[in-house]
Amino acid sequence: MSNISAATIVTIANIGQHEGQTVTLRGWLYNIRSSGKLLFPVFRDGTGTIQGIVPKAAVPEQIFETLKGLQLESSLTVTGKVRADSRAPSGYELDIEDLHVISAVSPDDPFPITLKEHGVDFLMEHRHLWLRTPRQSAILRVRATIMRAAAEFFDTGGFVRTDPPILTPNACEGTSELFEMDYFDDDKAYLTQSGQLYIEATALALGKVYSFGPTFRAEKSKTRRHLTEFWMIEPEVAFLELDGLMDLAEAFITHIVTRVLEQHRADLKVIGRDVAKLEAVIAPTVHAPQAIPALSANAPEAVILSEAKNPCISHEAPQISPETNQGVILSEAEVEGSAVSPATSRFPRLSYDEAHAMLEKAYAEGKLENPHTYGDDFGSPDETYISSQFDKPVMVHRYPAAIKAFYMQPDPHDPTKALCVDVLAPEGYGEIIGGSQRVDSYDLLKQRIEEHNLPLAAFQWYLDLRKYGSVPHAGFGMGIERAVAWICGLDHVRETIPFARTLNRIYP
Ligand code: 4AD
Ligand code: MG
Repeated sequence: MSNISAATIVTIANIGQHEGQTVTLRGWLYNIRSSGKLLFPVFRDGTGTIQGIVPKAAVPEQIFETLKGLQLESSLTVTGKVRADSRAPSGYELDIEDLHVISAVSPDDPFPITLKEHGVDFLMEHRHLWLRTPRQSAILRVRATIMRAAAEFFDTGGFVRTDPPILTPNACEGTSELFEMDYFDDDKAYLTQSGQLYIEATALALGKVYSFGPTFRAEKSKTRRHLTEFWMIEPEVAFLELDGLMDLAEAFITHIVTRVLEQHRADLKVIGRDVAKLEAVIAPTVHAPQAIPALSANAPEAVILSEAKNPCISHEAPQISPETNQGVILSEAEVEGSAVSPATSRFPRLSYDEAHAMLEKAYAEGKLENPHTYGDDFGSPDETYISSQFDKPVMVHRYPAAIKAFYMQPDPHDPTKALCVDVLAPEGYGEIIGGSQRVDSYDLLKQRIEEHNLPLAAFQWYLDLRKYGSVPHAGFGMGIERAVAWICGLDHVRETIPFARTLNRIYP
């Protein structure tokens, strides 16, 4: 075992830099097959997997026999020579020379997750071990990049990260989904549903801010989109209105997808993701107006900013022809200091009314099972239908105020509508972003709090923001798990977070 100390310790991800060299890997036995006098162990080390080859004649007998008897997921170090092999998934194989078992799994109690199919309940019950499989590891790596890219977008865009409290005295997103707890003596506290109300305060202090942390909803729904604990990133910007907010959301999503495609082609392959679908999202093309049939003349004009300056955006600004450009071109001077970096790909924008018309037409043509009732929120099949009409995320704006949160600014052109936007991911993934312009009038906000039967005393500080130098401001929240599910193409959000918390699960 002398080689072990002598050889360089490397990771599987970087093994290509050591072709022809003898190196040491530290990891676990992921799989093993034998063929007579040959063993083909597969090792994993957290960064990837690699197959080793062990001809009986080439190694000391003890090494051959140890490996042959070893249970899966035993931990070990292996030393061997790196050989390029075009047939290997990683492009390399290891000619094993030596190995050292660190902790052998007992044959009486083998690793419970085998390479055969298991039911989801079994896998979730063993989530702490399921995480070791290549697909789950790949998802977590993509998740980490999505979180990093999301924070990077704001960090490099002049936003200040301000962390809101997790224990709060009041509700943000409706009182029915609150986790309540005792807070000393006679007080109650609630786990935060969103940092929004607090970052409205920090936005009025610092201009452009964001928060990024865990949020909680006592969701009684058992859907593939709902967790009771999830991570949300939320920007909030003073002097920003709805159109600018949509530009911000578009640039934000474009940046995240760009980073994932730059860094995770191999992981997306392991996950089985069709990357062409993601490439279409960031393709710097402009939607011709005819590609958006429901866009009518009264649709709000898109604002297109020229002269990209945000370092987050690696694409060149698209060529926008006068015919397809429905918007206003702002000069470089106007972009400077703006909350928004220009989006390079145009995401379609539909008003609630236009989306409803689209659904009515689809129902009439037999493409939808149930009609959509005007005034109601969109159901899952509705969102799926709308998003399936486009290859980029769709922004649906101006929902009826009655079905939206108390803090949303009414549309001055039609006060029954809220100046809000939901971003629906493609391929039926539904809402990944929800945001709005906020009520900036003291009197209206007070009236809304009362209409929603919310305790005025708990919201006094929030009302103060409208008393002392109120300005138009807007923000949105993106649930990380919804974004991961869409970007990785997963059926259910439970695989997007290391340990999912749902209605029926709080173990492990
Ligand atoms: O649409 P929501 O409820 O909006 C807010 O919380 C606003 N206060 C955000 C803001 O304007 N700052 O939630 C925002 C996003 C949703 O679009 C979705 O991605 C995610 O949070 N989300 C959930 N993700 C997983 N499980 C749940 N139960 C979720 N509820 C919301
Ligand atoms: Mg929402």
